[in-house]
Amino acid sequence: MRFASTLALAALALMVARAHAEGAMPAGNAAAGKAKAAVCGACHGMDGNSADPQYPKLAGQQASYIYRQLVLFKTGVRQNPIMLGMAMPLSAQDMADLAAYFSQQKIRPGVADPRLVKAGQALYRGGDRAAGVPACMACHGPDGLGNPGAVYPHLAGQHAQYVNAVLTAWHDGTAWGKTQHALIMPTIAKSLTPQQIAAVSSYIAGLHTAAPAATVASGVNPSAFAQGGLPR
Ligand code: HEC
Ligand code: HEC
Repeated sequence: MRFASTLALAALALMVARAHAEGAMPAGNAAAGKAKAAVCGACHGMDGNSADPQYPKLAGQQASYIYRQLVLFKTGVRQNPIMLGMAMPLSAQDMADLAAYFSQQKIRPGVADPRLVKAGQALYRGGDRAAGVPACMACHGPDGLGNPGAVYPHLAGQHAQYVNAVLTAWHDGTAWGKTQHALIMPTIAKSLTPQQIAAVSSYIAGLHTAAPAATVASGVNPSAFAQGGLPR
């Protein structure tokens, strides 16, 4: 009896240690995040709606996803010289606070190119079976809201130029790490043509919901943090 409970305790301690090593996200404070976000606003907009389409909008993005990306930039797993410099001085708590702040802002959607909507929507909703490409909405949701628990990012309303650049980089062999989670998008993007990337990027920019959908509350997928993890 006592042996069994000792074992159970040891197993629990191991699980906690592992969750920590994998970079479990601390609870974020949006008010604290707002104060820390001034430096980010120059590129991403104070409310997370960047004016320049080369900088991704952060407004309405999943906190879990923002946090994951900041860890990836800081550890050099997602390579970008600007964001490496921005993430370097941030502690895990800073990242969680910034993630909380930006996730609570409202994203202002863009407008899709009417000539690209049909092809973009077909790919987004149905994938491309011949090329082995799954429907984007299977993970990112029919409305592009993503899934915070699984750490699938919110896409709806993102700048087409940024989406296009990210998909093209994945197509050309970039990856944000070697975990199963990180390899999902490079694998998918490899099979997309430049025309498909342009169409789906434009579609995503114009995607938005009329009414705010209920947030999906759930635990965060630990494998999304498996590599790079927290700065240890
Ligand atoms: C000088 C401009 C600049 C500043 C300031 C800046 N960023 Fe960025 N940020 C970028 C660029 C450029 C990218 C896109 C990087 C890429 O293409 O991989 C980016 C990407 C990101 C992403 C990934 C978004 C996504 O959709 O994948 C996050 C999260 C982020 N920045 C957070 C921040 C935070 C938090 C701050 C403030 C501490 C900040 N940034 C300050 C330029 C900037
Ligand atoms: C099996 C699940 C899955 C499917 C299907 C999927 N995605 Fe993703 N997507 C992800 C994950 C996971 C990430 C985050 C990757 C990371 O953090 O390393 C992501 C990230 C993205 C991003 C980056 C967002 C940002 O802010 O930087 C874009 C753009 C994207 N996906 C577009 C698409 C498109 C277009 C399709 C359909 C052709 C698609 N995805 C299909 C799981 C999926």
